[in-house]
Amino acid sequence: MLENETALVTGSTQGIGLAIARSLAQAGAHIVLHGMESQEEGDAIAAGMATAYGVRAAYVCANLTHAEQAEGLVAAATGALAAPSILVNNAGIQHTCGIDSFPAERWDAILAVNLTAAFYTMKSVVPGMRTRGWGRIVNIASVHGLVASVNKGAYLAAKHGLVGLSKGVALETATQGITVNCICPGWTDTAIIQPQIDLRAAQFGGDRNAGIRDLLSEKQPNQTLLPPERIGEVAVFLCSNSAAGITGVALPVDGGWTAQ
Ligand SMILES: NC(=O)c1ccc[n+]([C@@H]2O[C@H](COP(=O)([O-])OP(=O)(O)OC[C@H]3O[C@@H](n4cnc5c(N)ncnc54)[C@H](O)[C@@H]3O)[C@@H](O)[C@H]2O)c1
Repeated sequence: MLENETALVTGSTQGIGLAIARSLAQAGAHIVLHGMESQEEGDAIAAGMATAYGVRAAYVCANLTHAEQAEGLVAAATGALAAPSILVNNAGIQHTCGIDSFPAERWDAILAVNLTAAFYTMKSVVPGMRTRGWGRIVNIASVHGLVASVNKGAYLAAKHGLVGLSKGVALETATQGITVNCICPGWTDTAIIQPQIDLRAAQFGGDRNAGIRDLLSEKQPNQTLLPPERIGEVAVFLCSNSAAGITGVALPVDGGWTAQ
């Protein structure tokens, strides 16, 4: 379905990003993986993906807290494999803390990785997509791009910002065969939520499953951690021609969280 396309997926050596990369590769896209692993480690993950799905795959290392590395990421991906016709901004970090003592350094890092990096990659990738007359941008926001929870000020600002930025770029590219959408996951079973699970588990004598149940019972009506693969499959749909009429959308994949 996506043969001849090249996808750059940020933060794709683990978690949701890896699941998205696998789903896109399964749909036939060539893949540029991105992460913070060494070139050798990343190349090994890319080689495994190429073998598993019969596509071309490469790996680019960049620390997205550094603006110049974010600014250069699309060029690096183009050099490593080809100009991306699909861009998935997935890399993200979290820090939970009340506003009174929220560390400014964490604020800066969260805004840089979760929002500013997507500004740079979209700015870099859109001109080529316009020339080609086709492009797909999928930004991984969060339910916290749509609604709030306590102690997540920087994450909320970044994810609400990403939803707004995506809508704007969707409007700017709407006549050129390009779509720009956000996926807004609820609790998904990856490393980023482990500190929050650990905090809950501690309230139940270290019982991890009890911690997870407590976390889910608060906000996620289906009471189930989402497998990352569910997000990957939705990303493939948004890249497909069936979704050509969908742009500027922030799509919750959240077990009912934002229906409440
Ligand atoms: N897991 C959830 O419950 C959940 C819910 C909603 C949204 N999300 C979003 O999904 C996305 C993926 O997160 P995940 O759940 O797979 O967590 P994860 O921690 O497994 O993955 C985060 C990815 O971001 C990359 N990353 C982190 N800091 C970076 C930096 N400085 N430079 C470059 N890359 C960096 C990591 O290498 C990693 O690949 C994030 O944007 C996150 O906010 C996750």
